[in-house]
Amino acid sequence: MKPRSTAVPIASDLAPAYAGLELLSTAVLVIDAEGRVRWVNQAAEAMLDLSRRIVQGQLARGLFAEPRVIDGLLVESSAGAFGMRRQAMLLRRPLREPLQVQVIATALYLDETPLLLELSAIEQQLKLSREERQLDLSEASRRLMRNLAHEIKNPLGGIRGAAQLLETELRTREEREYTGVIIAEADRLQTLVDRVLASHRAPRVVADLNIHEVCERVRSVIMAEYPNGLLIERDYDASVPELRGDREQLIQALLNVVRNAAQALQARIASGDACVQLRTRVAQQVTMIRRPCRLALDLRVIDNGPGIPEELKERVFDPLVSGREGGSGLGLSLAQEFIHQNGGTIDFESVPGRTDFRILLPLR
Ligand SMILES: Nc1ncnc2c1ncn2[C@@H]1O[C@H](COP(=O)(O)OP(=O)(O)O)[C@@H](O)[C@H]1O
Ligand SMILES: [Mg+2]
Repeated sequence: MKPRSTAVPIASDLAPAYAGLELLSTAVLVIDAEGRVRWVNQAAEAMLDLSRRIVQGQLARGLFAEPRVIDGLLVESSAGAFGMRRQAMLLRRPLREPLQVQVIATALYLDETPLLLELSAIEQQLKLSREERQLDLSEASRRLMRNLAHEIKNPLGGIRGAAQLLETELRTREEREYTGVIIAEADRLQTLVDRVLASHRAPRVVADLNIHEVCERVRSVIMAEYPNGLLIERDYDASVPELRGDREQLIQALLNVVRNAAQALQARIASGDACVQLRTRVAQQVTMIRRPCRLALDLRVIDNGPGIPEELKERVFDPLVSGREGGSGLGLSLAQEFIHQNGGTIDFESVPGRTDFRILLPLR
């Protein structure tokens, strides 16, 4: 198809008709009978990294590494030969590296604009399903944990009581050391079990809250725990609006993440160049588990520690998974649960020297 020399009518008149598509996090391109892009949504602009002024009017075939596929779809959709098709394609982006995308082509049965393309990055799809899988998994394992904790709690009291009775019968210190071990271990388990159960007992209190107050609370707690050698840098975006959520839950969640960072920084704290950064931003058009979100808070906890060990990466959010001597492995599991309860997601990227936990929470 040869490009036309005259200016292509850009579809500002189409904007009202497609306004609803602006809400999607999937990139949408509407193609006219000549194969030109007539309209794109914001998500498509972001994916192509081009403004719609530039994209609209271009030949759609030029955007892909497989132009013939687009030609074929166009001919067939104009002829009403299919309803919907799916295909993996490579999106060419003039300003950035090409992107593997899943394309869903829908025939619109309109003479002017016969074809609609929906594009989603394949990498993002993979990530989403991993997050969903993890959500299901962690719900199942948390339920198991709760039940187990209940089962352990009662006999534990009995074991401790019996050991105490036995202790009064024992004469030598050596003998009493054994009962001492039983009692100390029973107490340790008791604390663990209480922590598992307590996290599910507190009623949720949802109200408007300022995320920077939450950050400041967490910052002061950690500063008190690590008075020397740890820098907690703030990089707050003052334009972040209030969000609705449970303040105590969010404090606990953030505290767990920041405390992990501080613990991972032990060596750097000793040498005096440990740094944890708390960063807030407003993010637009993000996809949280199972739904797109127009406006979200993007809260980062970034540390310059050694990174999360490779063998733990897939499991750090699972309960009882710990890479620390004496760790309970409950911190991130609980943080994740609280973030989910507040409608958000938590994720991380970690390489030696930089671990970046990203918490997304919906804003109204
Ligand atoms: N910022 C971090 N840097 C390095 N490792 C981390 C970081 N955050 C978490 N981890 C790893 O994830 C594990 C699990 O964390 P968590 O669920 O809080 O349990 P715990 O702190 O009791 O071990 C930690 O033991 C640690 O190995
Ligand atoms: Mg922890």
